[in-house]
Amino acid sequence: MEKKRIALIGGDGIGPEVVAEAKRLLEWYRDERGLPLDLWELDLGADRYLADGTTFPEEIRQRIETECAAVVLGALGDPRVPGNEHAEDILFGMRFGFDLYANVRPVKALSDDLVPLRGKRSADVDFVVFRENTEGIYVGMGGQLRRGTPHEVSINEDVNTRMGVERIIRAAFEYARTTGRQRVTMADKSNAMRHAHELWLRTFNEVKLEYPEIEAEHQYVDALCLFLVRDPERFDVIVTNNLFGDIITDLGAGLQGGMGMAASSNTHPADPNRVALFEPVHGSAPDIAGQGIANPFASLLCVGALLAHLGWPAEEQRIGGAIARTIAAGTRTRDIGGNATTRQAADAVFAELVSAE
Ligand code: NAD
Ligand code: IPM
Ligand code: MN
Repeated sequence: MEKKRIALIGGDGIGPEVVAEAKRLLEWYRDERGLPLDLWELDLGADRYLADGTTFPEEIRQRIETECAAVVLGALGDPRVPGNEHAEDILFGMRFGFDLYANVRPVKALSDDLVPLRGKRSADVDFVVFRENTEGIYVGMGGQLRRGTPHEVSINEDVNTRMGVERIIRAAFEYARTTGRQRVTMADKSNAMRHAHELWLRTFNEVKLEYPEIEAEHQYVDALCLFLVRDPERFDVIVTNNLFGDIITDLGAGLQGGMGMAASSNTHPADPNRVALFEPVHGSAPDIAGQGIANPFASLLCVGALLAHLGWPAEEQRIGGAIARTIAAGTRTRDIGGNATTRQAADAVFAELVSAE
């Protein structure tokens, strides 16, 4: 079988600490389980940018696009780069540059006690957010006029195209159909954003007709936030725009036990052979960086999603199960109520994986 090349970008803050554990898991699959993986570590991030001005060289971009099956990214964002320009070049360079229009963020609690809601259990928190990943307010269209004066004008355009809206809504329905999920909820703010979000609502109402077996529900995003906290169990698949998806999935991470538990995939569902990007939902966590105490579970869950994407779906279940058993047995980092280091928490997961064989 042809080798699958995987680029690893630790990035900033806790990014390299958690990607080191993802790398060890991938090495275990390569060396012990015989998966045809070829790992390629890339030195990109704030340190590199501050040292020599490099953000995301075109040659690297092209090689990732043509040679790699997937990328694992830790996090980008460093207090020494307040403008975040390196993060924009690298992260958006991949999300936009590879047209990875589906940012898929599962919100699944792996232990009852990680759910912070009174009376709710892990079974109540199990849904998947399809965040549009190539349009919206993130495209960077806009500008500033009279900057720094009392008459400053600052504009970011919210860009929504029929093609972009339709393909993410369709991806959410297709996912529901193939995984047996029963309901797709589309979240917008069409009561206030009469142009852009009317397009979302109209498109949703058209596409849903092609999926009569799936319940299609529309929610304004503010009400959705209420229901996410009150009745998370009513959600199955949520589809929404780029910005709302960003916000909702930090809320979702809160329902799962925190940022250290939330993983994500960035894919182009219309062509699954295109390089895909896997990253924890969390950022570089400057407040705990360098201490070896970051939770590696989100990054290990990313490896599961990556292996499923590359054609080994059983491994995603295995890795998720091993993490759940590790948590149940009490090996946890500080953010989820334990005192394990990043390395100890990952080691416990590897031991669970081996003992389950
Ligand atoms: P953050 O996710 O980095 O941190 C929020 C809180 O969660 C912090 O208290 C942090 O300690 C905690 N946390 C996050 N991940 C954790 C983990 N694995 N284990 C234990 N605790 C964890 O969000 P922020 O502070 O808003 O952002 C910090 C920087 O990261 C910013 O520069 C931001 O732009 C960037 N960022 C990058 C990405 C990305 O690269 N995909 C995502 C989000 C934020
Ligand atoms: C995320 C992050 C990014 C986003 C930032 C770092 C630009 O918050 O991946 O959720 O807003 O998409
Ligand atoms: Mn975010």
